[in-house]
Amino acid sequence: MSTSASISPNHRLEGPEDFWAYLDELVSCHALIIDRPKGSTHPRYPGKFYPSDYGYLEGTTSADGSGIDAWRGSLEEPALDAVLLTADLKKRDSEIKLLLGCTPQEKQQILYFTNAELMRGWLVKRSPELEWLKGRRSVRRFQRDPVPHDVLNRILEAATWAPSAHHRQPWRFAVLVSDPAKARLSEAMGAAFYADLLADGITQQEASERVKRSRQRLQEAPVGIILCLDTSIGDIYPDPERQYFEHLMGAQGVAMAGQNLLLAAHSAGLGGVWLCSPLFAQQVVQAILDLPMTWQPMGLILLGYPAREPEQRPRKPVDEITRYY
Ligand SMILES: Cc1cc2nc3c(=O)[nH]c(=O)nc-3n(C[C@H](O)[C@H](O)[C@H](O)COP(=O)(O)O)c2cc1C
Repeated sequence: MSTSASISPNHRLEGPEDFWAYLDELVSCHALIIDRPKGSTHPRYPGKFYPSDYGYLEGTTSADGSGIDAWRGSLEEPALDAVLLTADLKKRDSEIKLLLGCTPQEKQQILYFTNAELMRGWLVKRSPELEWLKGRRSVRRFQRDPVPHDVLNRILEAATWAPSAHHRQPWRFAVLVSDPAKARLSEAMGAAFYADLLADGITQQEASERVKRSRQRLQEAPVGIILCLDTSIGDIYPDPERQYFEHLMGAQGVAMAGQNLLLAAHSAGLGGVWLCSPLFAQQVVQAILDLPMTWQPMGLILLGYPAREPEQRPRKPVDEITRYY
């Protein structure tokens, strides 16, 4: 690409790819100078530490007259896959900052770092919507870092924007963040799981190992969310068939809230997985968490910052699972 490329009035806008390609050109032609390494303090705010390496592209100019700012994350490849738009009421300026080779968690840390004092930032990601959607994985191993409370609340709020039958919003959430709460629930669910496994004819040793693994999952996840269906708000029918469908509609709504929740977590750089274990121990979960009897546990979502990115699992081709009429 030529840096002298000009756009005529008749130039057809190609969409965001062109924008990113132009930024790529700047990144590839100008050396990145890191003048504020990870861990160093902010010159104007001594209590603030840079969460990643920060610098500028040598020989470029941005809105404040200095080089275009850039964050460099820990990924080997310094791929440009997001920019941060900023508005600073102290410097009275607005800028664009490049994010190079940053993990999802680093992006969130940078966003937090930016949204402080008199500065606000907005992250614009490069991947098209569908690619982003396909990037969601079921994550089962997490880093120890806790999930900030406001991030968790935003994710729960996203869950509430799911559609639901009659707009009854039948979802309810029991959120476990403390170690004792997670330990108590995993112990009680583990005991129920163990009894089920023995009843299925599995040996005591095998059952103990499976229960241990299952308990560890919840205990080691920073957050566990029991998704419940509030059975008190559905319509009442005289026949069991329609009553079953009413219950099913409620469960469908909870599942949609669960998917919103997983996607919102993915968007925030977190990973999550839906586990079905509470379905098999509904009364145990209700008793341990002292839930209202109408809150029927449907699933358990574990959340946290991914310890590693799991492999993408292939999908059935659309034409194999679809009939057009
Ligand atoms: C209703 C439901 C129940 C699930 N139950 C479990 C489970 O008990 N244990 C588990 O490891 N994963 C469970 N999963 C996650 C699936 O295994 C996972 O979504 C699937 O393998 C596809 O992988 P992906 O989400 O990474 O694309 C469940 C998912 C759903 C939607």
